[in-house]
Amino acid sequence: MVAYTTFAVAITTLLGLSSAAPGYVKPTGVVKRIFAGSTTANGGLHFEPENVVAEIGDLVEFHFLPKNHTVVQSSFDKPCEPLADGSGIFSGFNFATPSGEADNVFTFLVQNKEPFWYYCSQTNGNHCQKGMNGVINQNFDNGKTLAVYKANAVNTVTVQPSADKLASQGGNIVPNKPL
Ligand SMILES: *[C@@H]1O[C@H](CO)[C@@H](O)[C@H](O)[C@H]1NC(C)=O
Repeated sequence: MVAYTTFAVAITTLLGLSSAAPGYVKPTGVVKRIFAGSTTANGGLHFEPENVVAEIGDLVEFHFLPKNHTVVQSSFDKPCEPLADGSGIFSGFNFATPSGEADNVFTFLVQNKEPFWYYCSQTNGNHCQKGMNGVINQNFDNGKTLAVYKANAVNTVTVQPSADKLASQGGNIVPNKPL
């Protein structure tokens, strides 16, 4: 176990993934693009697609549309709040764009098949309360649906993951390359 851990750390360091991955998972090569913002849905306060199924090792890539959105990991039970233990993913406010897509994207590898809940923490316009949230690998067999998350989000107050609004964690900020 010790040897394996050391090996895994060595490999992730070698690949330059140490800041992206809490643990090493083998990349599948599959990229799941999610747009933060929308030119059509919900007055722009929308992730598209907002309900994604992904495999362990798939790369999630957030592309940011206007205006000034973030991605913050939350629990199902507490919409619009970061994970209580501070381990959640946060893009930081690094992607404001007046038009088109932001110059950079935010990426991370899917670590497991547990539901990954997230929201936009922009309080100027109450994005999370208005429905700008989403899920990766929702459990379709229980009542913990994105619709319920959205309903519960309405009366919450958004919490920022860190005092430093630019301090992203758990992923990488990389150039937005055209397809
Ligand atoms: C984006 O929003 C954050 C949080 O409200 C704010 O601190 C930052 O100045 C905004 N950036 C731009 C370019 O509007």
